[in-house]
Amino acid sequence: MEKNGSQTVKFFSGKEIPVELHKVRIVQKLHLKPIEERLQAIEEGGYNTFLLNTKDIFLDMLTDSGTNAMSDNQVSSMLQADDAYAGSQSYYKMENALHEVFGQKYVLPVHQGRAAENIISQTFIKKGDVIPMNYHFTTTKAHMELNGAQILEIYTDEALKIKSNVPFKGNIDIQKLKDVIKKYGKEHVPFVRMEASTNLIGGQPFSIQNMRDVKKVAQENGIMFILDASLIGEKAYFIKQREPEFKNTSIKDILLTMCGFADIVYFSSPKVSSTRGGGICTNNKELYMKMRDLVPLYEGFLTYGGMSVREIEAMAVGLMETTDETVISQSPSFIAYAVNELDSLGIPVITPPGALGCHIDSMGFLPHVPQQEYPAGALPAALYLVSGCRGMERGTISSVRLEDGTDLLADVELLRLAFPRRVFTLSQTMYLIDRINWLYHNRDLVGGLRFVEEPPVLRFFMGRLEPTSDWPQKLMKKFKADFGDSL
Ligand code: F0G
Repeated sequence: MEKNGSQTVKFFSGKEIPVELHKVRIVQKLHLKPIEERLQAIEEGGYNTFLLNTKDIFLDMLTDSGTNAMSDNQVSSMLQADDAYAGSQSYYKMENALHEVFGQKYVLPVHQGRAAENIISQTFIKKGDVIPMNYHFTTTKAHMELNGAQILEIYTDEALKIKSNVPFKGNIDIQKLKDVIKKYGKEHVPFVRMEASTNLIGGQPFSIQNMRDVKKVAQENGIMFILDASLIGEKAYFIKQREPEFKNTSIKDILLTMCGFADIVYFSSPKVSSTRGGGICTNNKELYMKMRDLVPLYEGFLTYGGMSVREIEAMAVGLMETTDETVISQSPSFIAYAVNELDSLGIPVITPPGALGCHIDSMGFLPHVPQQEYPAGALPAALYLVSGCRGMERGTISSVRLEDGTDLLADVELLRLAFPRRVFTLSQTMYLIDRINWLYHNRDLVGGLRFVEEPPVLRFFMGRLEPTSDWPQKLMKKFKADFGDSL
């Protein structure tokens, strides 16, 4: 078991408990509805947790994107926003924050992370290119493929193992990178992409040593290095915890070191700093100029890029707060607590604990549900039913259908339970763990799902499914037998 980090204190009992280094000053009322109402809600939502309404949700663990709690400083900064179409002072504060935190000189603001992916893909990809990366993210892959590239995931052998104590499962396999360049030719590799705290394989980080090695190969071949920095704060925290060379380095310096390897750094602001928005940054003027004119075309003028000035103010403050270890360690500390508890209950969960959320291996949890019946979709539906907690499918539903009509089966079938920063308490986390444990003891009752409405692109967002049998009713019956009138 790994030590949780700076938010964690040792109790008299010997147990390590994450303690909140903030106090709650504004609250939002939550509702824990009876199971009959939850069944109705998930039916109406087509067994897709994206289609649930938050009025029916107790703990919303769908994502940390745009749901992290804002600090008092972020909220108060929004009152100072400078409303202007062009030349807003709010923008220059954000630009300064990006110089300071990411060490990047030129900035292109965009309305969210995928907009950055659109601009980068349109600018640098030509048909027939290949893009090596540690692992794809859904929107990244969609934009790169739309522009004619093939994604090549060159992770190490450890990356997809559910149980592991390898600290950097997000690393790129350097030999595979060399092989890709040799096989396709460097002229067909416009860039190599590394994603901080690799989202779809359990929020797993890569090491700075791995970045060094990737950079060396890229540089030798004249290939650009692009860093997806959406989860870079938590990633910096993992470096400090897990890479001995950086044990005594400040988070600020770790962030600057990581961004220093990249020719282009882009990010989704809802993850970095709790606000909508995003950006593309570089120190290379030529690269900046190549991308610049797409910003007014798709996003808005260069000093707002589709964001409201209020969000830009809060983003500038949020970026600065990313250098504060007590801020960026909050979510990983709670995730580590949940992962270690679930692991000790024998529940299959990705280890070591990563960033963003706790990831349950749905195939290990529901071995009787065939992959074609979407175990990673059935599990969040079942968990919502028995707890009111909303997680997200990260498996074959988030993948695509092939031309022959079959699904491209995902490498891993995960239920992701996001821990937005400074949002949930320890007793809420304990409730979540208890209901997952109950579900695990009753897992035989959970069946599969099938599509009834399947959009052709990014189907996981709006797709509707139905259970392959009356398993939700049976699960509800057992829940009521065990818990009576308790919610
Ligand atoms: N890159 C990564 C690593 C992401 O996690 C995301 C979004 C994006 C790019 C796209 O950014 O949403 O601002 O357009 N991840 C969210 C999630 C949606 O729930 O994990 P966006």
